This record gives sequence, structure tokens and C-alpha cells, in this order.
Amino acid sequence: MGHHHHHLVPILCFIIAALPLAWSQDSIHDHLRLYGLPPGILPKGITEFSVEPSDGRFRVKLPHPCNVKFESQVHYDLNVTGTLSPGKISELSGISAQELFLWFPVKDIHVDLPSSGLIYFDVGVVNKQFSLSLFESSPDCAAVDPDDTQSSLRPVEDGGLPPESLVQVHISTL
Ligand SMILES: *[C@@H]1O[C@H](CO)[C@@H](O)[C@H](O)[C@H]1NC(C)=O
Repeated sequence: MGHHHHHLVPILCFIIAALPLAWSQDSIHDHLRLYGLPPGILPKGITEFSVEPSDGRFRVKLPHPCNVKFESQVHYDLNVTGTLSPGKISELSGISAQELFLWFPVKDIHVDLPSSGLIYFDVGVVNKQFSLSLFESSPDCAAVDPDDTQSSLRPVEDGGLPPESLVQVHISTL
């Protein structure tokens, strides 16, 4: 009998040792889902995150500032912070959206509850709306130079972009 128990010890040790690992694999994307938000709001590759259960405040850390192209470009800073509530991220900082060459900080992101199939990015001047289906899974995020969003705030200079890409951007944002 005792012999059998000895076999269980390493197995139990393994299970106990593996538990924190399993918990740490609970991701910020799981937290988004718990709040009725699509995981694709935040890209892959998040290295650290924390969520304050009492008030929903969260912070995530990315390995580098990066951009994702949804229908328009969305930029993620190294640090993203905000407050989670059902269907909504408010007090958001670290995400900006591009509109006609200008980057606007996204102040909040929300969905309709129950879902209308749309997601809204509040960039102050307008509510940009996207199809929720674009955010079903967490996107890859292309690394960009941290100064990129700053430099694009300056007027586009000659030679900055070929004329055809100017036209394309206009078409895709109208
Ligand atoms: C990101 O947050 C950390 C604190 O966790 C801070 O030390 C660092 O300066 C922040 N980086 C940027 C680019 O804001």
C-alpha cells in the first residue's frame, strides 16, 4: 500500500508545481471576454498584464510599440492601461487610431450589450465603428519605431509617401 503512495508523491508535486503556471496562462484576452469584449482589441505578444479585480483597472506591457491594420491603422504603445467594465474599456491610454494621416488617442472602446455586431472606438472627435468580427481573435502586431506616431503628426513631406499610396489611404478611409 505504502509503495503505491510513493508513486503518487511525484505526481502530486508535479500537479501542484504546474498550478501557478496554469493560472498565469490566464490571459488579458480571457479577461476581455469576461467583460463581454472581443479578445482582438489587444494584440498577441503581451509580456505582462495585471487586472485589479475591485475596479477593473488593467495594465498591459508589449515587447515593442506596434501597429495593427484593422480597417484603419491602430497603434499600441509599449504600455496600455485602462479600466474594464461590462462591454467597455474606459480611461484608456496607449492606443491610438489613424484617420487621414493623423493619430488620435482612443479614449474608450465599447460594444453594445447585447451585441449589435459593432465595436466603437471613441477618438474624441468621432466614434469610429468597426465590425466586431474583425476582433474575434488577437492580431499579430507589427513592430514600429516608437517615434513613428510622433513623426506622422507632422505634415507629410515631399518624398514621404508615393502619390499612389496617398490616394489609396484616402479611398480606404472615406
Ligand atoms: C511603461 O510602464 C513602466 C512601469 O511599469 C514604466 O517604467 C515605463 O517607463 C513605461 N514605459 C513607457 C514607454 O511609458
